[in-house]
Amino acid sequence: MKLKFIILIMSLLAGTNQLSGAKQHHIVLSTENTSIGITANEGGRSYIQYYGTKIQQEDIYRLFALKSNYTSPSYPTFGLNIGHGVMEALSLQMPDGNMSTDLYVTAVDQNSDKNGNYLEITMLDSVYPIEVKQYFKTCNNTDVITTWTQISNKGKKSIIMNKFASAAIPLQRGDNYVCHYHGRWASENYIYETPMPNGELVLDEKEGLRTAWYNNPSFMITQDGKPQEEYGNVFGGTLLWGGNYKIQMVAENNKLTVVAGINSDNSAYSLEPGETFITPEFAMTFSNQGKGGISRAFHKWGRTYGLQHGNQERDILLNSWEGVYFNVNQEKMEQMMKDISDLGGELFVMDDGWFGEKYPRNNGTSSLGDWGINKNKLPLGIKGLTDAAKKYGIKFGIWIEPEMANTISELYDKHPDWVLQCKNRKISTGRGGTQVVLDLCNPKVQDYVFSITDNLLKNNPEIAYIKWDCNAAMMDYGSTYLSADKQMEVDIRYHMGLRNVLKRIREKYPDVIIQCCSSGGGRISYGFLPWFDEFWTSDNTDAYQRLYMQWSASQFYPAIAMASHVSASPNHQTRRETPIKFRFDVAMTGRLGMEMQPQDMTEKEYEFSKRAIASYKSVRKIIQLGDLYRLISPYEHKNISALMFADEQKSHLVIFAYNVDYMHSQQVPFVKLTGVDENKNYRIKDLTPMDAAKPCFLNGKVISGRLLKHTGLQLKDILNKPFTSVALELTAE
Ligand code: DGJ
Repeated sequence: MKLKFIILIMSLLAGTNQLSGAKQHHIVLSTENTSIGITANEGGRSYIQYYGTKIQQEDIYRLFALKSNYTSPSYPTFGLNIGHGVMEALSLQMPDGNMSTDLYVTAVDQNSDKNGNYLEITMLDSVYPIEVKQYFKTCNNTDVITTWTQISNKGKKSIIMNKFASAAIPLQRGDNYVCHYHGRWASENYIYETPMPNGELVLDEKEGLRTAWYNNPSFMITQDGKPQEEYGNVFGGTLLWGGNYKIQMVAENNKLTVVAGINSDNSAYSLEPGETFITPEFAMTFSNQGKGGISRAFHKWGRTYGLQHGNQERDILLNSWEGVYFNVNQEKMEQMMKDISDLGGELFVMDDGWFGEKYPRNNGTSSLGDWGINKNKLPLGIKGLTDAAKKYGIKFGIWIEPEMANTISELYDKHPDWVLQCKNRKISTGRGGTQVVLDLCNPKVQDYVFSITDNLLKNNPEIAYIKWDCNAAMMDYGSTYLSADKQMEVDIRYHMGLRNVLKRIREKYPDVIIQCCSSGGGRISYGFLPWFDEFWTSDNTDAYQRLYMQWSASQFYPAIAMASHVSASPNHQTRRETPIKFRFDVAMTGRLGMEMQPQDMTEKEYEFSKRAIASYKSVRKIIQLGDLYRLISPYEHKNISALMFADEQKSHLVIFAYNVDYMHSQQVPFVKLTGVDENKNYRIKDLTPMDAAKPCFLNGKVISGRLLKHTGLQLKDILNKPFTSVALELTAE
């Protein structure tokens, strides 16, 4: 009786639109540390009332009492009065031209399976035959909640979808800062932190294919001031879509709402009678432990749900690209395999340059599409390579760029219509002046792209790893396969086609490790990662610049997925010269690999590399599967930068620190190990001394967690020159 009365009062306070006798649902959906609170009134509207740190069921009523609920429509629609400061998530044009949508709730269901708990809110338009099902799902053992919608045309005529976002999440308007990651080729993902202005801030991509290159679809919003690493209330979100996307942050009238979804600019979608469109998932978390809390939540979720084989340690590899570029041949490949095996590596990856019979692939101008091995370069075929790998006791991997063709290729000679192109226009070309994009809207082309990987893996079951590259933008928004009224759907249908291909590959080849590469880091996104194991972080392998790019990639993406390779000095992209130890100490914070000609190393470098690889193996599990604590950011220009990884019990830690801005007589901050257990004592080991006989002064010392956390390590005598670095293992005694 009392509860009913409270609900009635609360529904009045919430301003809900309840029809008499209809059921009102107040749902609190929780993970271990977060909750979302939703009120859905059958016969009325559905609202998000809360998203933040964990609350109890009864707290949803207390939110109303405090007037600290947001009361924002859970899926705002365009065309009718949805209130000031609310941005629409759904905008439809009905067959009679009506631009408005009016959704009311018809059913609310809650379910659970082994992956989490689901909330399903079914809504119908009051007049037109449109059904929307909105979902919220917790992801078990993580603090991430995902949300998406399913839009169905139940009528007999097409409905144009002008906007169909995945989510509209209200957040507390306060002293909000937005953290986002922006870049370009060889300089991906720099961190930008900016106060949220009144009005609108948009993060989007229109590149078509490399949709994480300029703006990453992941972002954070603080609630109470400047972003801090280990404290403060922070929201983190990311869109699981590989095509163009748009994330709008709207701060108006004391409200802050995030609307995230497919970018429907120039890309409306015609929903046919009987058709259901499922929007991509939007994944989010909330932390009261600053940016670090958001990162750790996403790393855990990423390893469990967001990428392939997230709990399986990765092999240490040598990639041939920066070692030989297109000059691939049997001897060089064998020599590199022998070297990486001698060095203690476990996998060799032959990059570009191995294919093309009629048109050999000697540079970027030809052959994409012709995936037969070039017998002049590799007379023994792939078998010759996998046999050699076996001989050296390592695995073998291979590069492909299957979504592409060159106009100089047998494929293009045969199927010029398989390429994206706009009617009555000359085809645009990219890399090498000849690269074109295959039309994955076309199911025949999807079959062909699937067959490239399928043939390779079927005929060579020894292939353990694939590097899947994509080096073009969606240059021409046109498909010979799609009808005139569907041309506006090219980007969406391309990515649906790509998903279909990747799904088929994964169903048939669940064990192969696949890297997601796209002119470097063009696809560092959970929109692609569900089918991949890792991403190529950047074509820029300069360890110094990588410090910045890897720091930012680590905001959302776990170390296990971050391909990080030691390359030559001077670096091929920046010409910067750095010591081999610095290069290893930087690469070791991700999935370690090498990308150089090992024969070009000095004897001393070779010997050091062997030891560094052995050391990485000894702590690989902590780096790849542990928790990351970022300690001193290179972006803060405090002379040094430092980070640490910890296992779950905090009994095994790995610390990396670097001199980043060498300044004479400048203060060097203490490195305080925020992630240690204060009640443990730790023995320190120098993991990568340049001279094995001369480890750093900390080697062998035992220090208490209390001191490490509150006083910290003073590393000024180690990080005393440009590009000096240290890697330490700490083991609880
Ligand atoms: C672009 C990639 O990012 C590089 O790592 C390399 O694989 C080249 N393509 C090969 O053409």
